[in-house]
Amino acid sequence: MAQMKRIGVLTSGGDAPGMNAAVRAVARTAISMGIECIGIRRGWNGLINGDFVRLDTSSVSHIINKGGTILYTARSEEFRTEAGRKKAMDTCKLLGLDGIVAIGGDGTFQGALALSRLGIPVVGIPGTIDNDIGCSHYTIGYDTACNTAIEAIDKLRDTMQSHERCSVVEVMGRHAGHLALYVGIASGATAVLVPEREMDFEQDVVEKIRNARLSGRTHFMIVVAEGAGSAVEIGKKIHESTGIDPRVTVLGHIQRGGTPTARDRVTASRMGYSAVKVLAEKQCNRVIVIQNGVLTDLDMEEALAMKKHLNEPEYALLSAMTGGGSD
Ligand code: F6P
Repeated sequence: MAQMKRIGVLTSGGDAPGMNAAVRAVARTAISMGIECIGIRRGWNGLINGDFVRLDTSSVSHIINKGGTILYTARSEEFRTEAGRKKAMDTCKLLGLDGIVAIGGDGTFQGALALSRLGIPVVGIPGTIDNDIGCSHYTIGYDTACNTAIEAIDKLRDTMQSHERCSVVEVMGRHAGHLALYVGIASGATAVLVPEREMDFEQDVVEKIRNARLSGRTHFMIVVAEGAGSAVEIGKKIHESTGIDPRVTVLGHIQRGGTPTARDRVTASRMGYSAVKVLAEKQCNRVIVIQNGVLTDLDMEEALAMKKHLNEPEYALLSAMTGGGSD
């Protein structure tokens, strides 16, 4: 295997706090190994359009503490087409890229696999606040997003408590409930609705509010994963069923920003470092993952076929905690 001379790094899909730390680690690890690093901007679109920036050690200074991504990001429709991927491959040839590190979620990895089939090795790093990548127990940005949501819910609780109200809060997660479940446990929610569990409104919401009221609570916190339904609709149904007049808050994109936590900075740094090592040593398609706390790499095709289920011990804990009402 010839020594790699130049690699590209990109961030794609929804941004996640810690992506910058991963870009920094990729660039600095590559440079330390004598490999040039090119930052591809605006995700896969950047590879299609030849939108790039050369990265040296100082161009990634002062970013480990920053949310967002200095490389910008996008969801590329064109890259889903054969013609788009062909253009991207041409850019790789023109720039002399020997490999790519792609940081993002499921869509990013699907793109990575498709590109790799055209002959360029790609290593994926899981980065999404949703933590919904089947092959990895952890994705960059999840911890920060959980903490952002919890901080917001704590603030909501203050005012809900004073006014003796019910709050319905919608958190992100796309089709998955990992974020909502974790946030619900940590914020002492009255009830948490996740897409992985079919909702029985009477049992899962009304009964929990009723139990909380019977045990003396006068404020209620209902956490809804966006994939489980609209918080506005849940709020209306609560009003119809109980007479309570809930206040609805959709946390939205606030969960995607902010200073990455120590966990996200360190995990991203470790994954970035490992991605370059794996790319240089194996020169094939891999995904960097964390499984049972251990950082390792998997074949990309096999990794993409893996499914993630809701964390059962966490769900059992939530059920026990919400059986008799909120905090
Ligand atoms: O995948 C991250 C995520 O924030 C999801 O939680 C959410 O469903 C989606 O992206 C929102 O996407 P957009 O940034 O396109 O609004």
